[in-house]
Amino acid sequence: MIRLIKSTFHNEPETKKKLNAFIQSAEQLSFGPECQKFEERFARWQGRKYCVFVNSGSSANLAIVQALLNLGKLKKGDFVGFSALTWSTNVMPLIQLGLNAVPIDVELDTLNVSSSQFKKVLKKYPIKMLFITNLLGFCDDIDVISKICKEKKIILIEDNCESLGTRYKNKLLGNFGLASTFSFYVGHHMSTVEGGAICTDSERLATMLGLVRAHGWDRNLDEKRQNKIRQKHKINSLFYSRYTFYDLGFNMRPTEINGFIGNVQIEYLDEIIKKRNENFAQIAPVIYANTKKYYPIDYSKIQFVSNFAFPIVCRTKKIRDELVDKCNGLVEIRPIVGGDITQQPFFSKYMHNLKVDNHNAELAHNQGLYFGNNQDLTDREIKELIKIFA
Ligand SMILES: Cc1ncc(COP(=O)(O)O)c(C=O)c1O
Repeated sequence: MIRLIKSTFHNEPETKKKLNAFIQSAEQLSFGPECQKFEERFARWQGRKYCVFVNSGSSANLAIVQALLNLGKLKKGDFVGFSALTWSTNVMPLIQLGLNAVPIDVELDTLNVSSSQFKKVLKKYPIKMLFITNLLGFCDDIDVISKICKEKKIILIEDNCESLGTRYKNKLLGNFGLASTFSFYVGHHMSTVEGGAICTDSERLATMLGLVRAHGWDRNLDEKRQNKIRQKHKINSLFYSRYTFYDLGFNMRPTEINGFIGNVQIEYLDEIIKKRNENFAQIAPVIYANTKKYYPIDYSKIQFVSNFAFPIVCRTKKIRDELVDKCNGLVEIRPIVGGDITQQPFFSKYMHNLKVDNHNAELAHNQGLYFGNNQDLTDREIKELIKIFA
């Protein structure tokens, strides 16, 4: 059986050995220097000024929306666009925090939102923010989308939980908007078991994210930023500063265990991404050439694909269902992420007044599946995957 996830970490035995030694000797296991060191290293790797490390990719998505509300950049009731083909917790924070979540259809050949799909929705709804998902290591013309957002003063946030390391037009995905979110859950490009992050170049946003991450207090901010916020709120007593809560927050802190693992795993990140890309280069051209059975997937404009998984959209539901049967006991497969989100029970329960046309996301939902890519795929497994899907 070719599993979606083969290990918890890259170089698992070595990582576990290091982790063991760290736990034995660490004085502190709650948020501390290992987490901060990881934040600095991940921000540098991604080419962003700030990284705020949290306990999951879902928390990263919730934190960024709360931070934008706290800063007054978004208001309750605002319309926020999102990719119709995405993960549940990309959309849920929008609904939980009182925004109108507007699905934007994807292109069938990239499975991502394009500028033309975005423009169609802009004609119908006064979109204040676009929370785009870079799905499965791919994207569409995100440079054009970013330009439109700048022109129209729409906040662009990328959910990059599935596309760490993909480059489009000389730029890493995750660097096209105000901020981007990442997941370090097992099976993603890099694992801290559970974990996530938000990256941005805005100091103001990073400061607010620091408050949102932990209780709304300033405990994990640096001294300069603590002084600034205390002065603004006239908190002159050290005693009260310890329990002053400046704005709405949660507790989304990761632990030093996650931070330590992050610092070990980031050493392997380039190697992991390279291997995923090599697997992709071997498998994708062969399976996607089968255009009689599958809709073509176009990744030709993406400079470097740091692939998460291989999506397949079949020409008919019958072909997809036969493929599902064929994979039974051989390859672990899944629907294409959360599928067409508007078909998920939670979405129709809370968001039912929108008139949208999602026919590509719907087709991917009804006739699609994906199988995994990971850095531990063997040559034998790659051959087997090609045999099954080509
Ligand atoms: C696009 C996307 N966003 C957010 C998440 C949530 O990440 P996490 O599982 O770390 O909460 C996922 C998880 O797979 C995802 O695929």
